[in-house]
Amino acid sequence: MTTHRFLDRRAFMKRSGALAAGTLLPTSFASAANAGTARRTVIIDADPGQDDAIAILFALGAKDRLDVRALTAVAGNVPLDLTERNARIIRDWAAGTKTLPVYAGCPRPLARELITAANVHGKTGLEGVELHEPRAPLAPQHAVQYLVDTLAHAAPGSVTLCALGPLTNVASALIEAPQIRAALREIVLMGGAFFERGNITPAAEFNIHVDPQAADVVFASGVPIVVLPRDVAVKAPITPARVAPFRAPGNRCGAIVADIMAAELAYNKKRRGTEDAPMYDPTAVGYLVDPSMYDGRKVNVVVETTGQWTLGETVVDWNGRSGRAPNATWINEVDADRFYAALLDSVSKLP
Ligand code: RIB
Ligand code: CA
Repeated sequence: MTTHRFLDRRAFMKRSGALAAGTLLPTSFASAANAGTARRTVIIDADPGQDDAIAILFALGAKDRLDVRALTAVAGNVPLDLTERNARIIRDWAAGTKTLPVYAGCPRPLARELITAANVHGKTGLEGVELHEPRAPLAPQHAVQYLVDTLAHAAPGSVTLCALGPLTNVASALIEAPQIRAALREIVLMGGAFFERGNITPAAEFNIHVDPQAADVVFASGVPIVVLPRDVAVKAPITPARVAPFRAPGNRCGAIVADIMAAELAYNKKRRGTEDAPMYDPTAVGYLVDPSMYDGRKVNVVVETTGQWTLGETVVDWNGRSGRAPNATWINEVDADRFYAALLDSVSKLP
């Protein structure tokens, strides 16, 4: 029996069940803090991943709005040894004077075998761009321990977690140290689907489907959560006309973003015969940069963790039928043109 990094699996399943039932954490819903004008302190947890790369560059270019403290890598689109390597490569692309720490986290979901999306993102996880050997090593600590140690000593409501992959690292930290909840202003995550159907199964979006137990723990945690689901990703689609402007600034990161978007368009054209592609992870960073570009509703969200055909489905009580307390802000609208203008403005400030 594989032992979970911090708990043996039996103990983990028992505690996470307790956590999900709210006995370890209050299940009261704190209202999602408004982003306001102050600069946000952010930790990005990701599984790079083509769209993760664009999202991370978006965040690193938006220095006037975001203070990105670290990247934590999780297994998802491709195995952990590639997601952590890709996170270090992306860091190099955006290199400022300070080297942003990259931590490697969980190599597999809490209770399932890992499934990847290498068929989409390519065997490197960053199909469409030339890769180099990362110029700096990983930070030595496990990502979950980094999250626990950092949040355990952070001021109340001072840190935003931006989660762009399966929620394994985030859930593990919450299970290991429930008290870190106090330090979290919000968890802003890309994941789930409600008005749109799934992308990995008819019912489920990839990030939630890969690790439904982790998602269940996060949605039951009581931390203010903002969800950027497939419902939004398809309303800010990548199109050929939206690629060209990223080449105009003439900088390396602009060209990389254009190349990745072009690769995503080519994949969707080949696989689905469409001329556009959903824009996933960067919509979560867009929310951090300027939430006024979006609209949504505070709702109750539960995650299907046992369904044979619906595993990982996000069941959204959009009309308040369940009587369950709201536990997330579900975003279902975005001003796509403002989003792409913000993304371009940010990426054009990078090397
Ligand atoms: O369903 C889209 C999500 O799955 C994105 O985060 C993408 O990077 C993949 O991880
Ligand atoms: Ca991702």
